[in-house]
Amino acid sequence: MRQIDGYTRTCGLIGNPVEHTMSPMIHNTLAEREGRNLAYMPFHVENGNVKAAIEGAYALNILGLNVTVPYKSEVMKYLAETDETAQRIGAVNTLVRTAAGYKGYNTDMPGLYRAMCSEGIRLKDEHVILLGAGGAARAVAFMCVLEGAKKVYILNRTLDKANQIASEVNRLLETDCVTAMEMRDYASLPRERKYLAIQATSVGLYPNVEDVVIQDKDFFEMLHTGFDLIYRPANTKFMSLVKEAGGQAFHGLKMLLYQGVIAYELWNDISVTEEDALIVYEKMKA
Ligand code: ATR
Repeated sequence: MRQIDGYTRTCGLIGNPVEHTMSPMIHNTLAEREGRNLAYMPFHVENGNVKAAIEGAYALNILGLNVTVPYKSEVMKYLAETDETAQRIGAVNTLVRTAAGYKGYNTDMPGLYRAMCSEGIRLKDEHVILLGAGGAARAVAFMCVLEGAKKVYILNRTLDKANQIASEVNRLLETDCVTAMEMRDYASLPRERKYLAIQATSVGLYPNVEDVVIQDKDFFEMLHTGFDLIYRPANTKFMSLVKEAGGQAFHGLKMLLYQGVIAYELWNDISVTEEDALIVYEKMKA
């Protein structure tokens, strides 16, 4: 990092916990590559202190903040403005300073899209199987439709939650291409084509790396590609099963990279080169 001086702009992360975050590495590396006088710090914020943290950050002239678990929805109450897409998703992970206060964005979703583009995965006219119906899956469902997926099948253990997301996305985006079903009913999906599957459940999160939300070989044979939002270990159980069945598989580390890159671009009003992004990615993988 550059020497901090009176001109240094500060950005940071609020969440609980924040100890294992890679965000300081992403942002400080980008700033260093660019020779930009910016420093990024993690801030552990206790439950109940989110409003005070946002107000305090603004008073301290902090340029921007990332927001992580568990505050991505709560933080929306304390913003001057929220970007339309973030509002639809119902989650904000990036705050950008404006004259009136912070404006909230969601860069997780475009981050995933950019990660997919970078891996050569297309969403346009694609038939997508989305596993899960939590906060992450909700954002992915919006993204798939906004990026032109032809069909999105949300498969979840609890049908109600999948139904809720499907009807909300269909209503807000004026489409009928999102369908909900119980996960165990996957066999009733049309078989005349192969699918892109996006794994957005919390099953398989470290340290439970041997867990996988669906085991059946039969299911994995329906896929041409599997994208796991989980990125640790580098080869998740879900990815192994996709590859064993002959598909190509990716993990979520590039999504994490690009959600940071997009936040950095918003704060500094620039475009990060792919070369710089990939240098950061190498560091993240190390
Ligand atoms: P996030 O915000 O990361 O998406 P979440 O909102 O807690 O996390 O959602 C977790 C997702 O993982 C849900 O889809 C959940 O399924 P249910 O809606 O049925 O709870 C899914 N999930 C968690 N544990 C699971 C398990 N053991 N088997 C199947 N799905 C599971």
